[in-house]
Amino acid sequence: MTATVFVLNGPNLNLLGLREPEVYGADTLNDIEDRVKERAKAHGLTVDFRQTNLEGQLVDWVQEARTKAKGIIINPAAYTHTSVALLDAIKAVGIPAIEVHLSNIHAREEFRHHSYVSPAARGIIVGFGAYGYELAIDGLARIITKA
Ligand code: DQA
Repeated sequence: MTATVFVLNGPNLNLLGLREPEVYGADTLNDIEDRVKERAKAHGLTVDFRQTNLEGQLVDWVQEARTKAKGIIINPAAYTHTSVALLDAIKAVGIPAIEVHLSNIHAREEFRHHSYVSPAARGIIVGFGAYGYELAIDGLARIITKA
């Protein structure tokens, strides 16, 4: 049986492609999903790819991953900079989580420089655009297969 990885996306990422393309690129979330699934297949992983605009939904999905997934890739979007609840959830589940941001949050407004999620992340990928999700799959695959 192949291992499952949850790829969780936070608020406004459903608008990728339309939303500030000069910051986030022209790819839609569906484009990213297709590429991540293809890349995951090469590692023998199955991807469960989701997006929500709701903080509590992200917390529920992180908790769900505890029993259903071997790892999490998460772009918490704006909740990165506000959510202690997500930090606590990722710490609680005890499976590896990779934090991804399309843009380089450290080169942007000051309020984006701090991530509540990062202390619970096994690895962090920022600034590579949509390709960052593929890098995250590669990194997570290595962690999972070495576990
Ligand atoms: C983002 C960066 C966040 O600061 C922002 O709120 C987002 C997207 C990124 O992928 O670059 O919505 O997480």
